[in-house]
Amino acid sequence: MKAVVYDKGISPDALVFREVEKPTPRDNEVLVKIAAVSVNAADIRSMKMGIIPKRKIFGSDIAGRVEAVGKNIHKFSVGDEVFGDISACGLGGFAEYVAVPEKPLALKPVTVSFEAAAAVPMSAVTALQALRNKGNIELGQKVMVYGAGGGVGTFAIQLAKHFGVEVTAICSARNEQLVRSLGTDHVIDYTKEDCLKSGKRYDLILAVNGYQPLSAYKRALNPRGTAVIVGGALSQVIKAMLLGPLMSLGDRKIRILAAKPDAKDLEFIIRLVEAGKIKPVIEKSYPLSETAEAVRYLGEGHARGKVIINIMKE
Ligand SMILES: NC(=O)c1ccc[n+]([C@@H]2O[C@H](COP(=O)([O-])OP(=O)(O)OC[C@H]3O[C@@H](n4cnc5c(N)ncnc54)[C@H](OP(=O)(O)O)[C@@H]3O)[C@@H](O)[C@H]2O)c1
Repeated sequence: MKAVVYDKGISPDALVFREVEKPTPRDNEVLVKIAAVSVNAADIRSMKMGIIPKRKIFGSDIAGRVEAVGKNIHKFSVGDEVFGDISACGLGGFAEYVAVPEKPLALKPVTVSFEAAAAVPMSAVTALQALRNKGNIELGQKVMVYGAGGGVGTFAIQLAKHFGVEVTAICSARNEQLVRSLGTDHVIDYTKEDCLKSGKRYDLILAVNGYQPLSAYKRALNPRGTAVIVGGALSQVIKAMLLGPLMSLGDRKIRILAAKPDAKDLEFIIRLVEAGKIKPVIEKSYPLSETAEAVRYLGEGHARGKVIINIMKE
């Protein structure tokens, strides 16, 4: 089969498109013929940190068709359309086939395209867990999504609106129209205005991209408000890990998210996608042979929504 294999180094040039052996599913595995896979910041971060998957193939968020099942698989049958985040099972999505346990997979509704399904797993589950699990989102709150234009941000806006809150999206001018089309109530261009100094207060802030001092997020919170540090600059994430608990001693909390693949969360989100209530935003899709280019583009840090590898394009 064709796959994109990590060679060595830390740049996307380390990703080589070549022929490798097709996997054979073990008794507890499903063999998926991958139709689409999305690229995530986690692929790039792992590569930079030298955390290389065993089979040297990155790619976590797959959508495809079951081609074969091991004898202990009862949840899926040959021909089922499935999707999921396989980051806890050794990755392997930048390839024509992958063999994985059934746990991270869910059935893909037939009305949802493979590309749309591949856009969902890590980004949308991260957005959901940030808003609901860490942020305890409640109807009527004022919510800020800082760094709203990318994969996580575009799902966070839509999920937040689904939970019935007022959303302020922080992004550059080029993404204003996009975030408004997703239901955002207010938009602030971070290149022109320091949105945390305007005097406006929020019940929940999701820090998804960019960098702001934790004290600035805290000052922009209402009493009993929470800032959830999802991602952005590494320094922002490290400070939240080290200082978050100390800074949360008062009535305003700084919490950090470590999202985990969760089949129930995936199911919750795909039902909203199926019902047309949430639309995965896909900026670009590349053939498998151009995965290195897709990774390079996402790594520049200004993707609009998701970047997809469409393996059916080969
Ligand atoms: N905690 C977890 O468990 C978890 C899970 C998944 C992802 N993450 C992290 O979450 C972050 C976001 O992931 P993602 O998939 O959304 O990334 P992404 O798709 O690469 O984000 C791209 C977006 O970031 C915006 N952006 C770039 N620089 C910015 C700045 N200085 N201020 C505000 N916005 C800025 C860009 O908007 P403009 O073009 O408008 O600048 C662009 O739309 C990453 O750091 C990732 O590692 C964390």
